[in-house]
Amino acid sequence: MARKVIIDCDPGIDDAVAISMALFDPRIELVAVTATAGNVPAEQASRNVQAVIERLDPPRFPRLGAATFVEGCAGTDNRLMHGDDGLGNQGHVISRLHHQHPSEKVICDVVRADPHRVTLICLGPLTNIARAFQRDPELPVLVDRLVISGGCVDGVGNVTAVAEFNMFFDASSARTVFRSPVTKTLVPLDVTRTVRLTLDFLDRLPPETTRVGGFLRSILPFTYRAYRQRLGQESILLHDVVTLVSVLEPALFEYTEMSGDVETRGELTLGLTVFDRRHSPQWRANMDVARWADPEKVIDCMVNSLSLAGSATAGE
Ligand code: RIB
Ligand code: CA
Repeated sequence: MARKVIIDCDPGIDDAVAISMALFDPRIELVAVTATAGNVPAEQASRNVQAVIERLDPPRFPRLGAATFVEGCAGTDNRLMHGDDGLGNQGHVISRLHHQHPSEKVICDVVRADPHRVTLICLGPLTNIARAFQRDPELPVLVDRLVISGGCVDGVGNVTAVAEFNMFFDASSARTVFRSPVTKTLVPLDVTRTVRLTLDFLDRLPPETTRVGGFLRSILPFTYRAYRQRLGQESILLHDVVTLVSVLEPALFEYTEMSGDVETRGELTLGLTVFDRRHSPQWRANMDVARWADPEKVIDCMVNSLSLAGSATAGE
């Protein structure tokens, strides 16, 4: 039985790869894709979600949610690593921005329609999730599980010395979500940064002649260039894709129950995810945290899932 899923995301190239897998993997029924500001501003994120789905043209179109401006966010973005348009500057066009309900409304409607049956995979800042919980206070206990891409346990950040981007961008919403009663899993940088993709990953993608293969070959070269030019690295990280793999094949990961919170005020520590790892923790455990994954098997899962997407998008 396919798992009902909402993906909330800020495409973003790694988000787009995750969407490409989820649209066609038989283990997932992608009911909705909701956009949030993060890697790119809200309007661009909404356009990118629609552009990816129009380009891949899946048999079942998911419901789309529109991102809206985030008050008080960190006022940053990730366009250096994802392109000015967030998808590698390939001029992805959309027919026209469909009238879309706000992402938080779509999340509430979809979860309410299937209580206790929807997994919410969060691949961007947690703005929409916090808004949905504020809009419908019962929602946290109606979501089957929240799976969050982001944070870090070891305190080694990627947007600041200590903070991961999704938590940093909207730390207040991240704290709201961490403190909510929803069942949650966190897939932090500690794990996603162990899954490094060298150039040979491009050779393992579906053929160029498939819609998925052509699309991924249009956006991924930007990521390889950005990692080489800005970070001096010959391999790349696709954090959100690793998080999706944790939903497709959870057995490839090891988890620890932990108690986590998010710093919302620190001059140097804004967005830091803090965990009570004292010998006798005083904080109540509130999430399962992925602490290890088998990198090669995670990559194999990516390749196998994308191969299914390639078969589903072969020819015209
Ligand atoms: O820190 C990595 C996360 O921030 C990923 O979700 C990436 O897409 C950006 O949103
Ligand atoms: Ca993302």
